[in-house]
Amino acid sequence: MKNTDHTLIEQLKISKREIERRKEYFGLTQTESQTLISLKELISDHIEEIVEEFYTKITPFDEMDRVIGDAETLRRLKNYQRTYILSLFDGQYDEDYVHSRLRVGVVHKRIGVEPKFYVSAVYNLSSILRNIMISQNKNNWTSCKSSLAAQLRK
Ligand code: HEM
Repeated sequence: MKNTDHTLIEQLKISKREIERRKEYFGLTQTESQTLISLKELISDHIEEIVEEFYTKITPFDEMDRVIGDAETLRRLKNYQRTYILSLFDGQYDEDYVHSRLRVGVVHKRIGVEPKFYVSAVYNLSSILRNIMISQNKNNWTSCKSSLAAQLRK
């Protein structure tokens, strides 16, 4: 059998049971998924500024700017990023979700995005999302706390 006969999820032998187990490790429960769904409108309302801020943090670094390479790719990336960020708040963390995340990982490996770039970008994206949630929930600490906890897990 060739690799191309199998999906990434099959190659890595990630079963439905394994996905559920990993959600348990993270404490990603139904309640947390519901919290994430309830945040989607807020994120959607701010999606343009989130994406702009994300690339404002990446492109000043020559080594990352070089990997992106040109204005057209950056424009394409902003579209991918919009879709990616919104999908974090769909509340569906099933095989399709895992598969799409594995694919993103493979694409970055292929084009030479080093883990140190990727990990710092994930951290930056997470703090951009966190700041939006804090600014919207600053008068309701309980709601703010559960939003922050949920967004860290997806
Ligand atoms: C939070 C971290 C990141 C996320 C969520 C993300 C998301 C994505 C997605 C969804 C794609 C499209 C994958 C596909 O073709 O199916 C992509 C492609 C790409 N990403 Fe990222 N990315 C991240 C970090 C980075 C960083 C740090 C760099 C550069 C240093 C980078 C450079 C690229 C490039 C060059 C492509 C290919 C664009 C093209 O030619 O179409 N990404 N990224």
